[in-house]
Amino acid sequence: MISIKSKTEIESMKKAGEIVAVVLEKLNAAVKPGVTTLELDRIAEEYIRKSGGIPSFKGYKGFPGAIDYPGSICASVNNEVVHGIPGLKELKDGDIISIDVGVYISGFHGDAARTFPIGTVSEKAEKLINVTRESFYEGIKKAVPGNRIIDISSVIQDYVEKNGFSVVREYVGHGIGKEMHEPPQIPNYRTREKGPRLESGMTLAIEPMVNEGGFNVKLLDNRWTVVTADGSLSAHYENTIAITDKEPLILTKLS
Ligand code: MF3
Ligand code: CO
Repeated sequence: MISIKSKTEIESMKKAGEIVAVVLEKLNAAVKPGVTTLELDRIAEEYIRKSGGIPSFKGYKGFPGAIDYPGSICASVNNEVVHGIPGLKELKDGDIISIDVGVYISGFHGDAARTFPIGTVSEKAEKLINVTRESFYEGIKKAVPGNRIIDISSVIQDYVEKNGFSVVREYVGHGIGKEMHEPPQIPNYRTREKGPRLESGMTLAIEPMVNEGGFNVKLLDNRWTVVTADGSLSAHYENTIAITDKEPLILTKLS
């Protein structure tokens, strides 16, 4: 069952989304050579708690055999696709970092991710970051009542592939609300299932994960961190959005 949110519930989700947006802005300003991903995690957790929120990811149950997620953010560097665990590794000039943030407040979650360049990055890395963001904006154009999930998925896939990159298959976007992960799944590629029809009041996390090389990924021994199978770079862009009778709303942004 896909939950439909009232106008007031969407306002509550905006509150979570705004905290997410501020955290991403703070982290964008903080990323530079020499900074560790654990330091970024501390900045995020401190601001989220000061705002009265709870980091959605902390303590999240993973695959069997994995520890509960220890971070407040996911920090995935270079060939890491998603779910990089914050740690003592220092960022260096030329790296790219994908940061994913989730906040729970007033009964609802907000979830968003960005990829940032560290210092000067290659032209190809810059293009990867831009194409990933742009593919989200292609997708959200289709997030209107009457369309289906596959309408979002198809335009994201086409845009990414037209630009010479590939979309990850194993991990997908999702419905979001009282739970961080709710139905429906939102693949970033065409599937055999067309997916449900979109209705006003649905809230979705659309999150293309885009690889420079092939779309295959593998899971590291920590059973969290996902990396590209061919070692190529990967970028991530995610917002929590609400379907309305008019234009879709991006909830993970500053109002
Ligand atoms: N934004 C990611 C997602 O939607 C983050 C989940 S990280 C986890 O799945 F630690 F909470 F699993
Ligand atoms: Co998400």
